[in-house]
Amino acid sequence: MPQRVILGVSGGIAAYKAVEVCRRLVDAGLHVVPVLTPSATRFVTPLTFSAVASEPAQTELWNAPVPIPHTRLGQRADLIVIAPATADILARLACGLADDLLSATALATRAPVLVCPAMHTEMWEHPAVQENLATLRRRGVEVVDPDVGALAAGDVGAGRLADPQVIVERVLSLLERHRARPQSSGPSRAGSGASGAPHRDTGRDLRGRRVVVTAGGTREPIDPVRFLSNRSSGKQGHALARTAARRGAAVTLVTAAPFAPADEGIHVLAVETAEEMARATLPAAEQAEVIVMAAAVADYRPKRAAPSKLTRSERVPELELEPTPDILRALVERRRPGQVIVGFAAETGDALGKGMEKFARKGVDLLVVNDVMVAGAGFDHDTNQVALISAAGIEQLPLQTKDAVADAVWDRVVELLAAGDPVPPSAPTDEDPVHGAHPGAVRLGTEHARNAYLGQSIEPEDHR
Ligand code: CTP
Repeated sequence: MPQRVILGVSGGIAAYKAVEVCRRLVDAGLHVVPVLTPSATRFVTPLTFSAVASEPAQTELWNAPVPIPHTRLGQRADLIVIAPATADILARLACGLADDLLSATALATRAPVLVCPAMHTEMWEHPAVQENLATLRRRGVEVVDPDVGALAAGDVGAGRLADPQVIVERVLSLLERHRARPQSSGPSRAGSGASGAPHRDTGRDLRGRRVVVTAGGTREPIDPVRFLSNRSSGKQGHALARTAARRGAAVTLVTAAPFAPADEGIHVLAVETAEEMARATLPAAEQAEVIVMAAAVADYRPKRAAPSKLTRSERVPELELEPTPDILRALVERRRPGQVIVGFAAETGDALGKGMEKFARKGVDLLVVNDVMVAGAGFDHDTNQVALISAAGIEQLPLQTKDAVADAVWDRVVELLAAGDPVPPSAPTDEDPVHGAHPGAVRLGTEHARNAYLGQSIEPEDHR
């Protein structure tokens, strides 16, 4: 039987894009039931949705063909996705209001809820909206952040509804995640829905832990208007910060990316350059039990930033570069006993081979490696496919949301913390990169590990 998805549509100009989301969800084999708020019907007619959905669009809490329609809709749903989600519907969900069919349905469900906000930049950045979103995230509601782009009335900025394909991919990956971890369907089913927690139940296993997470690509100025940077969006780092806060940690997030999460339990330090990131991260790390370097720190910066804008009329400038501070190396050198340090490596091709070499060289407890050339795992996606390399071996994870990747990383970190003394036997060295600090990491030979990475079968290890 196809899975049932409620497509909630609230009243914003992006409501017309929800028709495309609806069509693509149906194309993906899902049973889609559109539920429109009264304001949504001012932008798009219910008839349009009825024409492309699996059953007629519903709009009425009262005068509906069936009594109490919201409970039926909510109880039978496998997932509720709200696209676009206006500031108003986010506030209703955060408050638990139930005076229209969509908000009542979102309250009368234990299915996962995904919201896709879309609104003008001023509204999106307003603390009221961000606090409501933080409340929803804390309860386990998933969010597809809006893009930056053209808005209504000729404005441009953050708040544009995410691309329909991105929304559809996120719906499919959430359904997949919940199918992988089936929950009982009775009324006492453990928390999910807008009022519960659709995340898998990791409890608050990071409670009392202080963690530092870095995120985003640093910007190294060339002149006051230009910089050298990279394509990191900061989404994976922000997901790590969010999930750690949800699991009870006190999180310091040092981020070079815009739109840091505003969840409770996250102390955000906004930085721009590698130098600033080092200055923020190193002191914060002194008090932390866990440091996760998810940031894409620039390796080089212009030796001198021009004090005023370089102009075309001048000769073609020659940029002299110098190395930035290696923050990870400094962290490893200063590591306190018991401190867990996690590094990241974004590679292009042979990610596992390069990752294993880096793991041995960097002296970290865990290295999260991904191949940014793999579809859905590169920069700016909401999904990622990573391998986790530790002294215990290599774990290849499937393509999944960045939140799910973050949870998997924290699972490993919790194990490392529990192991008591995760400090590797020696400081990082450049010698013998394969059998250096973490001999266990190469339990799988490179070929075996590569095969595992490519999802092929693994022959038993030859230990001769
Ligand atoms: N990193 C850091 N400081 C830098 C550069 C990188 O702390 N100046 C951290 C990153 O946050 C990441 C890890 O180091 O966690 C590995 O980054 P990467 O660029 O892959 O390492 P490199 O040794 O620079 O490898 P490559 O030669 O492939 O660039």
